[in-house]
Amino acid sequence: AKAARTAYVCSECGADYNKWQGQCGECGGWNTLSEFIVEPAAKAGAGGGGVAASRRSSWAGRVDAPAVTALKDVRHSEESRVSTGIGEFDRVLGGGLVHGAVVLVGGDPGIGKSTLLLQAITRMAQTLPGLYVTGEESLSQVAGRAARLGLPLDGVHALAETGVERILEHAAATKPALIVADSVQTLWTEQLGAAPGSVSQVRESAARLVRYAKETGTAVFLVGHVTKEGGIAGPRVLEHMVDAVLYFEGESGSRFRVLRAFKNRFGAVNELGVFAMSDKGLREVPNPSAIFLSGSRSPQPGSCVMVTREGTRPLLVEVQALVDSSPLSNPRRVAVGMEQNRLAMLLAVLHRHGGISVGDQDVFVNVVGGIRVQETAADLPVLLAVLSSLRDQPLADHTVAFGEVGLSGEIRPVPNGEDRLKEAATHGFKRAIVAKGNAPRGGRIGEMEVIAVERLSEALDAA
Ligand code: TYD
Ligand code: MG
Repeated sequence: AKAARTAYVCSECGADYNKWQGQCGECGGWNTLSEFIVEPAAKAGAGGGGVAASRRSSWAGRVDAPAVTALKDVRHSEESRVSTGIGEFDRVLGGGLVHGAVVLVGGDPGIGKSTLLLQAITRMAQTLPGLYVTGEESLSQVAGRAARLGLPLDGVHALAETGVERILEHAAATKPALIVADSVQTLWTEQLGAAPGSVSQVRESAARLVRYAKETGTAVFLVGHVTKEGGIAGPRVLEHMVDAVLYFEGESGSRFRVLRAFKNRFGAVNELGVFAMSDKGLREVPNPSAIFLSGSRSPQPGSCVMVTREGTRPLLVEVQALVDSSPLSNPRRVAVGMEQNRLAMLLAVLHRHGGISVGDQDVFVNVVGGIRVQETAADLPVLLAVLSSLRDQPLADHTVAFGEVGLSGEIRPVPNGEDRLKEAATHGFKRAIVAKGNAPRGGRIGEMEVIAVERLSEALDAA
């Protein structure tokens, strides 16, 4: 049989070389090649010669073309899901963990990934016997934490090991239904000469675990530390290999943590799970709507509350802005929790269609609570907060806003307006400024007055 060979693959364009070189000949990227193992094809023969040969062969000439089946005749099994025992975790996974799914959980060091997965694996142990593999802590540290958190320990095996071959041996012997590998950066395989922690080791080790998961139907959680560039384990390769990618985020100094699905083959993305870190581990926050308000009761200049919708839940979130005359010739635009370019665009619209210039001012915008708002519904509240700071006047008490701001100064409706308005009314807001298409007919929701606006200038007047 042909032995596995080593290849050097460009992480940018996927070009494949036999020898390492500093620059990729295809895309010109520097230092993008890393070492991979190429398994020999299972069936050498008609198709032999790999990708290149099969690309060259014409369809008519192929005798071993895979059978084509009508999609409706393909047998499929309903995905069976198991609850993780943590409602917010289930929500982000799309309603529980799917058998045989491989889920990558990424986040900054110290954010609580190990804690979350330890809580989940011990709670799931009744239905899914688990194997917790740690390459970062000793077994006594893991056991100590589990005991301190009062977690049930039956049905969970623990292993302090980083070699994939030995992890898989243990898995084959104990046959767990769930494996947690904490963290994927510590894993290495004997098949590669590269140092543990290198991109190729991480990728190949993860690939071995993914293969094992698919062959045996074992569910696998891979823990990954986010690197400075923001990608898990450097290259985005891991994200393509797994079924779901979840990010665990939070602001340093805040006890709230947000788990977000970035990719999910078995559920919706952008669903949020909200947790609070306590001395008893991570606790769920099942009704998180109001935790992203800054908590100050009297209205402050530069603050506006918006209703964002992350996943299937409306959330009240405070946006803060600080506008200050700038000593710089190129004043700063800093956005935390939203996209910087979007802020620059909104300020241009404010100038052009609202007649308000902040060209000589530094503008800082912060979304309270470490949450990242990705939807355009934040446009209007951001501009209202900027205006409020510029004028040093608070918005009227108990006001919320949401709406997309277009380049020609129009305010556009956003999805699920009624849900958002109801949520704001439930939390005692008295006034809402929204796009006309989002406003209810009577101009009220319960006790709350809803002001419908079509143009940015109208919104600024209303505020
Ligand atoms: P950990 O799960 O080890 O983070 P990660 O695996 O993402 O690196 O969590 C570490 C932090 O959480 C640590 O700074 C202490 C804090 N923590 C608590 O506040 N309460 C607890 O019950 C636990 C277990 C951890
Ligand atoms: Mg950890």
